[in-house]
Formats: sequence, structure tokens, C-alpha cells
Amino acid sequence: MKLLITGGCGFIGTNFIRLMHRSHSDWTLINLDKLTYAGNRNNLAKLEQEADNYHFIQGDIGDRELVRSVLADYKIDAIVNFAAESHVDRSINDPSPFVTTNIQGAQNLMECARNHDIERFVHVSTDEVYGTLGPEGKFKETTPLAPNSPYSASKAGADLMARAYFETYGLPILITRCSNNYGPYQFPEKLIPLMFLNAKNDKSLPVYGDGLNIRDWIYVDDHCRGVELTLLKGREGQAYNFGGNAEETNINVVKTILHILGKPESLISFVADRPGHDKRYAMDFSLAKQELGFSPSVDFAQGMKETIAWYEKNAKWLEAVQNGSYRNFMKDWYKERKA
Ligand code: NAD
Ligand code: TYD
Repeated sequence: MKLLITGGCGFIGTNFIRLMHRSHSDWTLINLDKLTYAGNRNNLAKLEQEADNYHFIQGDIGDRELVRSVLADYKIDAIVNFAAESHVDRSINDPSPFVTTNIQGAQNLMECARNHDIERFVHVSTDEVYGTLGPEGKFKETTPLAPNSPYSASKAGADLMARAYFETYGLPILITRCSNNYGPYQFPEKLIPLMFLNAKNDKSLPVYGDGLNIRDWIYVDDHCRGVELTLLKGREGQAYNFGGNAEETNINVVKTILHILGKPESLISFVADRPGHDKRYAMDFSLAKQELGFSPSVDFAQGMKETIAWYEKNAKWLEAVQNGSYRNFMKDWYKERKA
């Protein structure tokens, strides 16, 4: 299979490419990524240097000519679209790039895929398109879309466009909706790596509101396996929910990090709440279980220990990413490792 992965230099895309490279040595993986602040080409530098069946292209999913030529030149069979602006707080500051990439960019990919007669197209979406839950119940695929942030509204826009491309043109598109991911290579603007970094540096840990908002956490490799299963076995036109069976309040997540690091809870600082802050997410992923054989394999306590251990081992990486000195740092990092 010749698989185009977009946004492969981000958090989930990086983990997906590493996993697919290990699991499917006969696949050719083409990574199209714009390299925004969140994209780090060097996450996959070793693969780029050593593997003949991995190719990186810097570019925008919204660029019609570029996407057309990538699909044609590499004779792409299938697409997995991870490319997105992904951070809710940034979307509150400025929704425009979210509309440009998450809606218009995604639609451009769908249009090019339609003209190319693509065999499969997995569009990676999020549980946030469903809005928020009260204390009971879980999101199902049939839950109406009711996004509350500019980020989730842009993701919901693309989901609806995907539906329209399936219904109108028969584009063989599938949608995955997953809960909050954690694991290696996550940009330190998201809760877990940000709190790790602050705790390591004895800086205060800013918890929004009362810290009682609930997220369902899934280890990134479990999500990647869900995307792979969707690509291989999913029903065209269908959306599939994925979750980690790990509902946690934000304050518990933060305390878990402090506990693993042996740092005091006095570092926690409650700050002003995020506007439109969704209270609770929880996923019913029984459809993915039944149709795809999906179930999450990493338990939250174990996954957090491994994740914190990874960030401890790669603390320099995290700091460099945050300081924007990433590219120079990575050159030295690989040199040191080779020596
Ligand atoms: P990320 O921000 O870490 O990575 C996004 C990647 O997309 C970056 O490499 C960036 O350079 C690239 N990109 C951005 N705009 C682009 C464009 N116009 N053209 C090409 N590349 C572009 O995001 P992530 O956390 O890895 O999320 C990946 C996908 O999964 C997103 O679609 C997101 O909505 C979805 N998702 C994320 C989570 C989560 O917890 N992180 C949960 C569910 C779904
Ligand atoms: P985040 O990692 O931004 O993911 P999302 O908003 O997509 O769920 O945030 C996870 C939760 O943590 C969310 O409820 C907001 C909260 N949060 C904080 O309390 N403090 C922070 O500094 C950040 C970044 C998030």
C-alpha cells in the first residue's frame, strides 16, 4: 500500500508513522506536513535517513496543485489525514487558521482524493465535535454534533464535509473520533507535557477553573491502532469512536504527574477558566469494538508512568521544542546519539 499521511510530524502522526513502519514493512509511507510550530520533521529523522519506504514532503494540505501532484506522482492508494491546528486555547485566541486548515484544507484533500479515485480515506477527528456531557452518559456515533470551541467547530465542519463527500460523490471516506491522547512527542502546550515541564522546573501548574473538568485519556499507540483498524476494516461512510476507558479530572491528572515526579502539590495554581470549557468527555466505543475488534490496551496508570519516563529521558527535546530551538538541538542530539 502507498499511504499518504498528512500532519505526520505532529504528535499523533509521528507515533502513527513509527507504528505503521514497524507493522507494515511492505507499505510506502509519504508524509505531507506544513511544519507549523507543532510539526517537527526531526521526530522522524532516523526513518528519513534509513528507510527507503518513507518520504517527507513539506507542504500545505490546502495547496491544490501540490496535493494533486503528490497523489499522482506517488500513486497513492489511501490517505490518513492528521493535519490540523489542534489546540483549543489557540483557537480561542484566533480561529482563522483553524478554519483554513481544518475545514478548507481538509476539503481540498477530499476534492483531490475524489479526482484521484482514492481507495480509502481516513479523516482523523475528535470527541470534541460532540460538545460536552453532564455527569452521566457517553458520546455515541449517533450523538448530535454540538461543538463549543472554534477548534471543535472546525473539526465538526470537516466531519460534515466528509459525510457530504461520501453521500454525494461516493468518496470512500471514514471518520475516527477519539478522546484525549497522551504519550511521547506531544507538544508542551497540552495539559500533560506542559504540567510535566513546569513541575520539573518547579514552576506553578496552571489548572483552569476548579480542575474538575473530565477528559477520557487514551495512550497514543492505542489511538493509532484504532486508525489503522479503521483504514483496514472500517465501513465506508462510517464514523468510529475511540476511547481509553480512563475518565479523569484534570486535577487528578496533574496530581498524578506531581506524584510520579515526587514534587509537591503546592505547585498547583488554580487560574481563570477557559471560556466555553467543556465539562466532561466520555466515549462509547462499542461500535469500534464490534466492527473493528478495537479495545485500548494501555491502562492509564501504566501509560502515565511510561509517558513521564519518556519525557524525563527526553527532557532536552521537550525544552528545545518549547524554546523553538528545536532544529539546531536535534542535529546535536542525533550527533551525540551516534557517537
Ligand atoms: P499536532 O498539533 O501535534 O500536529 C498537527 C500536525 O499537522 C503538525 O505536524 C503540523 O505541522 C501539521 N499541519 C498543520 N497544518 C497543516 C497544513 N495546513 N498542512 C499540512 N500539515 C499541517 O496535532 P495532534 O495532537 O497530533 O493531532 C492530530 C490530529 O488528531 C488532529 O486532526 C486532531 O484534531 C486529532 N485529534 C487529536 C487528539 C489529541 O488528543 N491530541 C485527540 C483526538 C483527535
Ligand atoms: P488540553 O490538553 O488543551 O486538551 P483539550 O482541551 O483538547 O481537552 O486540555 C486538557 C484539559 O486540561 C482541558 O480540560 C483544559 C485543561 N488545562 C488546564 O487546566 N491547564 C492548562 O494549562 C491546559 C493546557 C489545559
